[in-house]
Amino acid sequence: MSQQVIGNDVDRALEILRNGGLVGLPTETVYGLAADASQKKAVAKIFAAKGRPNSHPLIVHVASIEEARNLCSLWPHSAELLGSTYWPGPLSVVVNKAPEVLVEVTGGHQTVALRVPGHSMAIELLTRFKGGLAAPSANKFGKVSPTTAQHVLDDLGTSVDYILDGGPCDVGLESTIVDCSADTPVVLRPGGISAEDIQKIVALGSDELGMSRAPGMLPAHYAPNCELTLLEEFSEAIRMRESSETSTQRVIDASIDPLGFASSMYAQLRQCDADQIEKLFVILPQPIGIGLAIRDRLTKAAHGSKNQSH
Ligand code: TXA
Ligand code: MG
Repeated sequence: MSQQVIGNDVDRALEILRNGGLVGLPTETVYGLAADASQKKAVAKIFAAKGRPNSHPLIVHVASIEEARNLCSLWPHSAELLGSTYWPGPLSVVVNKAPEVLVEVTGGHQTVALRVPGHSMAIELLTRFKGGLAAPSANKFGKVSPTTAQHVLDDLGTSVDYILDGGPCDVGLESTIVDCSADTPVVLRPGGISAEDIQKIVALGSDELGMSRAPGMLPAHYAPNCELTLLEEFSEAIRMRESSETSTQRVIDASIDPLGFASSMYAQLRQCDADQIEKLFVILPQPIGIGLAIRDRLTKAAHGSKNQSH
């Protein structure tokens, strides 16, 4: 079955999308669960497949900054600066939506999140599709995001019609979301583009760099089945490793190579579950660069795991 559902047939993916079906979409961040953003019934299938509340808005993926401009009622200067600098890439901008953008996509909001993904297969699909694709991460609601085509199949099974296999995701963490709809741009979710790099292009408020605040982002999210404990101190971690690493307990150091860790983070969380690890300890990176996004996701994953103390 997996041979038929996973492949690299862009023609087949296009046909499914035009007929209102769901396609697993490779991007540089995580795999998306894509549907034609202009078809209400197709968008409804996304929420049903994920088990996601209808009020949680979806990101609309487009092929170019020109297409992004067409989907908003007012294109802010900050969005132009950020999009022209970091697209295609792991950045989403929130802007006031054009009237034709469905409120089913935006969770009832008058704003829409837009992104041009940095993945050649996604860009080919979007260019030929000639429209927006609504795509949340292709995992069940609240669970670990997928970074391979097989992860999508494991999570969503028959509710996805076809999965384009674009290989493992390079970045491994979701896009940075910047709300450009207000006067001062705000980072709603730290991600693949660091807050420092956003601030090189646009001025952000001083307290705007912390944890995810986008609608639908819950304190518990991205959760593995095992109990997850986060460690700040390297010395604490050494102690944990010496005393605690057994066949059912694992220690991962995310502080040495945060970028490398990010690209495999979700796969490692999934592997812990596959290996029936009961307790996972992760040494956190510094809260700079990609480290901010890693800490955000792992803090939420710890909230959602069996360990309620974090
Ligand atoms: O990297 C990514 O962004 C991936 C890939 C597939 O592109 N997508 C992704 O989608 O992470 P999802 O649905 O898992 O997270 C999208 C988040 C929503 O939970 C919501 O918090 C925020 O984007 N969002 C979407 N539309 C918004 C809006 N109009 N205003 C504020 N936040 C919005
Ligand atoms: Mg998600």
